[in-house]
Amino acid sequence: MNGLTVVSSPERLAQVAADRVITLASHAMTRRGRFIMALSGGSTPRPTYRLLADRRRALIIDWSRVELFWGDERCVPPDHPDSNYRMVRRALLDRVGIPTHRVHRIAGELPPYQAAAAYRAELEAVLGEDGRFDVVLLGLGDDGHTASLFPGTAAVEERQQRVVAVYVEKMGAWRITLTLPVINNARHVIFLVSGERKAHVLARIWDGEQLPASLVQPVDGTLTWLVDRDAAAALPLQGQDV
Ligand code: 6PG
Repeated sequence: MNGLTVVSSPERLAQVAADRVITLASHAMTRRGRFIMALSGGSTPRPTYRLLADRRRALIIDWSRVELFWGDERCVPPDHPDSNYRMVRRALLDRVGIPTHRVHRIAGELPPYQAAAAYRAELEAVLGEDGRFDVVLLGLGDDGHTASLFPGTAAVEERQQRVVAVYVEKMGAWRITLTLPVINNARHVIFLVSGERKAHVLARIWDGEQLPASLVQPVDGTLTWLVDRDAAAALPLQGQDV
């Protein structure tokens, strides 16, 4: 687990994550004139998205040059309580002026394979053939999943398609997810992990267990694990708080 940074609290995690995203966005815009990011779903990143929308930080990023994607989506309509798009819309999009054509939500309301094909095409159109995300934000499930790459699913093994539909038995639900090839082609991958509920799975990854999240190994990019103290409780390390 390279790039491990332990922060003192969930609040500090959100601050460090938001500031890291802003720094990387500034670099991308200077070098390439735009910033392409895939957002994590779930609950952990929501405070980070809220901070990205706060006045000081929102003025630093030129949101008109940001291309926003999602790392995964539940197959539900965009106004459904489980929708990752809805979570980001309420925490971030409703508060910053990103042009709608630069917000590339996954159409969870479509049949799964159709939603995956549509998202794949949109991703291709923006990133190009071998295009790279500047940043991919990821969460960690207590079973070691990330995005919607759940243990034992074909999505974890996918090495051709950059986007797939996957039926998750344990949830009895369909998901659309980025796959490891496109995640590992990113310039920067940042895991956000918070809370004692994640301490055991984080220790399993630290010990080298090959869980889906362990397979996130950027080919030519940086990997950062931003972890709060509760989630790091079972890791054999001292200090390193920021
Ligand atoms: C999702 C996420 C998923 C999430 C983990 C952690 O759609 O739910 O993409 O991979 O990051 O399940 O979720 P929490 O942050 O809510 O613990």
